[in-house]
Amino acid sequence: MSDATRISLTRFLIEQQREHGQINANLRLLIEVVARACKRISIAVNKGALGNILGSADTENVQGEIQKKLDVVSNEILLEDNEWGGYLASLASEEMDDPHSIPQHFPKGEYLLVFDPLDGSSNIDVNISVGTIFSVLRAPEGVEDPDESAFLQPGVKQVAAGYAIYGSSTMLVLTFGQGVYAFTLDRVEGSFKLTGSNLRIPEETSEFAINMSNMRHWQAPMKQYIEELLAGKTGPRGRDFNMRWVASMVADVHRILTRGGIFIYPRDMKDPSKPGKLRLMYEANPMSFIVEQAGGAATTGLERILDLQPEKLHQRVPVFLGSKAEVERVSQYHRDAQA
Ligand code: AHG
Ligand code: MN
Ligand code: MN
Repeated sequence: MSDATRISLTRFLIEQQREHGQINANLRLLIEVVARACKRISIAVNKGALGNILGSADTENVQGEIQKKLDVVSNEILLEDNEWGGYLASLASEEMDDPHSIPQHFPKGEYLLVFDPLDGSSNIDVNISVGTIFSVLRAPEGVEDPDESAFLQPGVKQVAAGYAIYGSSTMLVLTFGQGVYAFTLDRVEGSFKLTGSNLRIPEETSEFAINMSNMRHWQAPMKQYIEELLAGKTGPRGRDFNMRWVASMVADVHRILTRGGIFIYPRDMKDPSKPGKLRLMYEANPMSFIVEQAGGAATTGLERILDLQPEKLHQRVPVFLGSKAEVERVSQYHRDAQA
């Protein structure tokens, strides 16, 4: 198929609305504006050292992490592009302590947008793939200026979720709860074109993604699971497993969506006050929605991530997601250990 005949993001959104009636004009505008913001972030990322935005911003976010200049720039791009459209009641982000209110002079709408503006930011300065993750919720009715509590909805309530990956090509991956679709940025035309429909994660896999350097801090079921994979052909699993760890969740999840695998960021005892590293609202929930829609599974080891009732905007959770058979197996080890 020539690039000219490929379906654009706009056409896709309109045709989905005709077929399933799930993308009204406001939601379509929201997705198109987020896609445009991701295009701007992609351009900033691609400039590399020429853009003068590598390195740290000398500030800390609410989670005590040093922000990179591009974390701050990406956050600003997403805020700036989305606050005027009239479809949002509020926005929240990894990089802001509290939700960002829509300025008084703009109209408010029915949706909430929560995002990780730049995921994998430790990889920016070394030219490895990074991304943007986002989740769309409905604002509670009758709330004039939604605060944090408005965002605390379980992942099953997501209206849409997606991520952009700034890799060797820039892609946008989306779900509205009717399958997963992938778009590739055509840099000549400046538009996203549909390049993958109804993506499916293979149920079985021989590839895992985990930061092995934390092994000594893991709990027993986690150690057991990984030791069995490492034992390979002569171990209890009877086959060899391969390992990959990009340290950008977006890139690791994108690989799993493409060729299968299991991604794990477990709870560990390095800092017992933290029940995991990844954040529920803007990392675990949107990725779990996408993974489930592609036929995979996503748990905390004990529970389905999408069923969790969030308690805080920046809450962390253990994450096990990807090919169903492996996620179920490692979750079973965790449940058995609890029994
Ligand atoms: P962020 O850059 O948004 O803070 O997220 C980083 C996350 C995630 O992308 C990745 O899977 C994980 O941190 C990597 O953690 P380690 O450095 O501990 O491997
Ligand atoms: Mn992240
Ligand atoms: Mn981030």
